[in-house]
Amino acid sequence: MSKGSFYITTPIYYPSDNLHIGHAYTTVAADTIARYKRMTGYDTRFLTGSDEHGQKIQRTAKAKGMEPKEYVDKIVAGFKLLWGILEVSYDDFIRTTEERHKKVVQEIFVRLHDQGDIYKSEYEGWYCTPCETFWTERQAEGKVCPDCGRPVELVKEESYFFKMSKYADRLLKHIEENPGFIQPIPRRNEMINFIKQGLEDLCVTRTTFNWGIQVPFDPKHVIYVWFDALTNYYSAVAGQPDDTLVRKFWPADVHLVGKDIVRFHTIIWPIILMAAGIELPKKVVGHGWLLLDGGKMSKSKGNVIDPTELVDKYGVDAIRYYLLRELPFGADGYYSEDALIQRINSDLANDLGNLVSRSVAMVEKYFDGEVRHPAGNDELDLDLIKTAGEVTEEYEQLMEKYELSNALAAVWRLVSRANKYIDETAPWILAKDEGKSARLGTVLYNLMETIGVITIMISPFMPKLPARIWEQTGLTEQEGAKVWDSLKKWGSYPAGTRVKRGVALFPRVEVDNNANPQTQAAVKTDKVHQDDESRYISIDEFAKIDLRLAEILKAEKVEKADKLLQLEVALGSERRTVVAGIAKHYTCEELIGKKILIVANLKPAKLRGILSQGMILAASDGEGLGIITVDPAKDIPGGAKVK
Ligand code: ME8
Ligand code: MG
Repeated sequence: MSKGSFYITTPIYYPSDNLHIGHAYTTVAADTIARYKRMTGYDTRFLTGSDEHGQKIQRTAKAKGMEPKEYVDKIVAGFKLLWGILEVSYDDFIRTTEERHKKVVQEIFVRLHDQGDIYKSEYEGWYCTPCETFWTERQAEGKVCPDCGRPVELVKEESYFFKMSKYADRLLKHIEENPGFIQPIPRRNEMINFIKQGLEDLCVTRTTFNWGIQVPFDPKHVIYVWFDALTNYYSAVAGQPDDTLVRKFWPADVHLVGKDIVRFHTIIWPIILMAAGIELPKKVVGHGWLLLDGGKMSKSKGNVIDPTELVDKYGVDAIRYYLLRELPFGADGYYSEDALIQRINSDLANDLGNLVSRSVAMVEKYFDGEVRHPAGNDELDLDLIKTAGEVTEEYEQLMEKYELSNALAAVWRLVSRANKYIDETAPWILAKDEGKSARLGTVLYNLMETIGVITIMISPFMPKLPARIWEQTGLTEQEGAKVWDSLKKWGSYPAGTRVKRGVALFPRVEVDNNANPQTQAAVKTDKVHQDDESRYISIDEFAKIDLRLAEILKAEKVEKADKLLQLEVALGSERRTVVAGIAKHYTCEELIGKKILIVANLKPAKLRGILSQGMILAASDGEGLGIITVDPAKDIPGGAKVK
């Protein structure tokens, strides 16, 4: 049963070049919201597209020796390919060169002209072609664009103007009466200030080039590219043979855009709609920028990161997770491959990956792969169940506010809670006692249920992952246990199901210290940062150190290095090589089988040509040295977290 309709859009990007991860961020965020809305029962429409007209595109095509249409066809094919690679589930892709769009733009333009809101005059002022924006003498001080800082050009031509000034008060009133219209709040305040400074009439046609939509009654004019582009949100539903879509989906629920173009979406676009007598969209959300060390990533600066390469390297789910986790709602965030790898290794491989693999492995080991019925919950269980309920609720609230990063953080609290539950309930100890078999069954059941809850919540973010988890937890064919509504009640996991261990969900990414300059840059800034901090560290800083219990499987001397031993250690099913400076203190034989502590997320480093993937902890008074071992009386398995 549908809860109603939901219409979400992304900006339509310029095909002036291939897209980068900044565009991917917006589109993947919109896709996640769309998937969430579909999952929770809304009849959802998700629109993206391409903004193909204007001087910039005409020039770019010319520079490549191509006709504009031939050029955009090629680039736009690349957009669609990229969205496919990123699992973007758009319902419609609008191109501004399509008839269905042109027709609606012309209709609105003619209507505004006929009612006297568009009039002919002469434009003289400055123009930023990369931004496709008009600026006054005062705004373009120093002959550069106040938005992007690039040179502006003098434009003097006959033009039609749109009476924006006439609608300024109405727009201000609308923004003030609808606090949710522009989000987040700082963007809203900026726009209110902007309007209060007074709006000038907007130049809405050009005559010095022809790559655009013609003004029907004055064909030497083409319509200003932003007037044309903004209308896509409406033409995609209104430019249809019948009015089903426009009735169902207009007004749009949310236009998701970057903060660079909030002004166009919250001033020009609403005024076009007001003048045309069309309802305004309910909300415009302006997210922050993805920055590189040198500032905003942009096609014209050439400092771009290609999302396709990242997907090839790390997989689509990991890239989507990173982008959506890293940028807090509305704020800017820095992109670095190092941070991406960090997220993959800690959040995905360690936290989530280990939760699933440990849980499934225990069901296999202790119950031959079959999940038992739960037999009554004790306090630990109730606490886990309570956390699951709270996290689900919080997730829903945050998703409704489009706070995607916070929603993921909430889900990861449940992931951590579940990992802690494993440590607290210690299933390997229960397994040693025949009489505790029912208790063991309950614990493993609760883990399967929790994994289900987590998987449903992360599915809008990481579209390919759920099927891989369901396969392991045995739910591939069990539709009922995978739907949103199953989250509302504890115990949807069908007892009696058989699990099946699979490959690791996210293999750890090993970093080669010498190969990645970005990694080194990140290390440097961290260090500078820490030097002026106080001598204390916070609990969060401590938590960054991934300390693990490891079992020594093999030890051998490192050639020509009298202090070093090369150890092979096991962290659960994972094997690592660690080079340690302990050869003067231990023989190889006496180390085998010892359970020691290692810093598992220390950046791997080459020592004497051997890649050491961690550091073992030892106490030393300068002369003597003893490695730190874990109480052998307690049967704690390798890979266990130290805290
Ligand atoms: O402005 N960080 O298209 P465009 C985050 N055609 N988001 C980024 C980003 C970054 N570094 N770089 C780009 C246009 N984006 C017009 C839009 S809509 C009617 C017309 C994203 O190709 C972000 O969403 O320059 C930004 O608003 C958009 O791409 C600009 O894309
Ligand atoms: Mg741009």
